[in-house]
Amino acid sequence: MQYSLLMLAAAVVVAKAALYNTSTANHSCVLEPAYRSCSAKANPSSVDTCCVETFGGLLLATQFWNVWADKPLPENSWTLHGLWPDFCNGSYTQYCDLSRQYDPIPSPNTTTGLPNGTSVPAYTGPPISTFLTPFRKFSLLDYMSTFWLSQTGPNSDLWAHEFSKHATCFSTFDIPCYGPPSSSPQLHSDVVDFFETTIGYYKKFPTWDFLARHQILPSNQTGYSKEEIEDALAEETGAVPYVGCSGPRYNETDAGKRENSTDAGRTVLSEVWYYMHVFGRPQEGRFVSVDQTGRSGCTNVTGGVWYYEQMEGSGGREEL
Ligand SMILES: *[C@@H]1O[C@H](CO)[C@@H](O)[C@H](O)[C@H]1NC(C)=O
Ligand SMILES: *[C@@H]1O[C@H](CO)[C@@H](O)[C@H](O)[C@H]1NC(C)=O
Ligand SMILES: *[C@@H]1O[C@H](CO)[C@@H](O)[C@H](O)[C@H]1NC(C)=O
Ligand SMILES: *[C@@H]1O[C@H](CO)[C@@H](O)[C@H](O)[C@H]1NC(C)=O
Ligand SMILES: *[C@@H]1O[C@H](CO)[C@@H](O)[C@H](O)[C@H]1NC(C)=O
Ligand SMILES: *[C@@H]1O[C@H](CO)[C@@H](O)[C@H](O)[C@H]1NC(C)=O
Ligand SMILES: *[C@@H]1O[C@H](CO)[C@@H](O)[C@H](O)[C@H]1NC(C)=O
Ligand SMILES: *[C@@H]1O[C@H](CO)[C@@H](O)[C@H](O)[C@H]1NC(C)=O
Ligand SMILES: *[C@@H]1O[C@H](CO)[C@@H](O)[C@H](O)[C@H]1NC(C)=O
Repeated sequence: MQYSLLMLAAAVVVAKAALYNTSTANHSCVLEPAYRSCSAKANPSSVDTCCVETFGGLLLATQFWNVWADKPLPENSWTLHGLWPDFCNGSYTQYCDLSRQYDPIPSPNTTTGLPNGTSVPAYTGPPISTFLTPFRKFSLLDYMSTFWLSQTGPNSDLWAHEFSKHATCFSTFDIPCYGPPSSSPQLHSDVVDFFETTIGYYKKFPTWDFLARHQILPSNQTGYSKEEIEDALAEETGAVPYVGCSGPRYNETDAGKRENSTDAGRTVLSEVWYYMHVFGRPQEGRFVSVDQTGRSGCTNVTGGVWYYEQMEGSGGREEL
């Protein structure tokens, strides 16, 4: 309990609403119609913004595949990245409530990402993982430590980054939605709720299984085509997700150079973002998949995308 004083200090700061001047009363969402986010009915002037997502109504459930991570991926699974609230037109905002800034390494370091944006101060308090202790959510923490892995640093830093950069831009995870601040056990309810909700969507999109059902398995011998990956995932979910690649551009690989290729798409499968609209609170998990708004940067070359196996002995590939 070395952190209790700091946690109390945080409680005092937390009291203001970020997105709307929402009252702490009347959020009985069971009484509210569960309108679809991004529909005309999801209008902040006519619905309870705690009960219908009205700010970031285009949700993205995002996952990573990265065989170079210093932590092995969980076996036969992709790892969780986050749950993001884009605007309905596909643009987005970030770090919407600096009173809930728990990210030790804000990225970007201003709210707009531009030098003249509002500065996002680095957080120096206790790690966000400690917020779960008073709730005794130890199995939640175990699950997060297995399936929600930072590629670059402590997992807790990734969780804090995801919360402060993204969760603060949902109308439905806003502080007043959780009731009056008088009851101190409620502190960080929004954080726990966000983590549980994010995991809920992660579990609805088992990318490894989705691809395996279409004979797309990690392989260091056979490349795949972006189109077959997109088609497989579209067949599983009903909409085309964003398929993200990293690694060398095709025109810079040996094969690309041999062919004088002008295709500058990247060649290593590394991410999938599933786009959704939700009905009512995202917390309830009622959603419909919608097509991505961006465009994949993966190479278009047939068989040009590598879905790499992990190193021997780590998870990610089927143990024989
Ligand atoms: C919220 O209230 C503050 C202070 O009363 C006011 O300045 C601000 O314009 C209000 N914001 C909205 C979105 O209504
Ligand atoms: C909540 O309900 C009370 C009692 O009906 C009402 O006075 C108050 O204005 C309501 N608040 C909001 C934000 O709707
Ligand atoms: C997208 O929607 C947001 C929120 O309504 C708005 O602020 C922004 O200007 C829109 N962007 C574009 C490119 O239309
Ligand atoms: C901040 O900088 C951007 C680009 O550098 C510019 O377009 C914008 O108008 C600036 N905003 C303010 C508030 O000065
Ligand atoms: C953000 O980071 C850039 C690049 O490291 C730095 O030049 C700038 O001063 C930082 N801005 C703030 C507000 O911290
Ligand atoms: C690629 O370009 C080089 C240099 O212009 C040329 O010698 C070679 O024949 C070209 N290869 C192919 C496959 O077109
Ligand atoms: C590959 O394409 C990119 C983007 O068009 C270009 O900048 C780069 O020079 C190309 N590389 C080679 C080896 O052609
Ligand atoms: C792949 O093809 C699409 C559709 O023709 C095109 O818009 C996109 O720019 C291409 N991607 C690359 C990396 O060349
Ligand atoms: C597959 O290739 C990737 C990328 O080169 C490498 O990191 C990984 O160790 C390889 N896995 C196996 C089982 O050879």
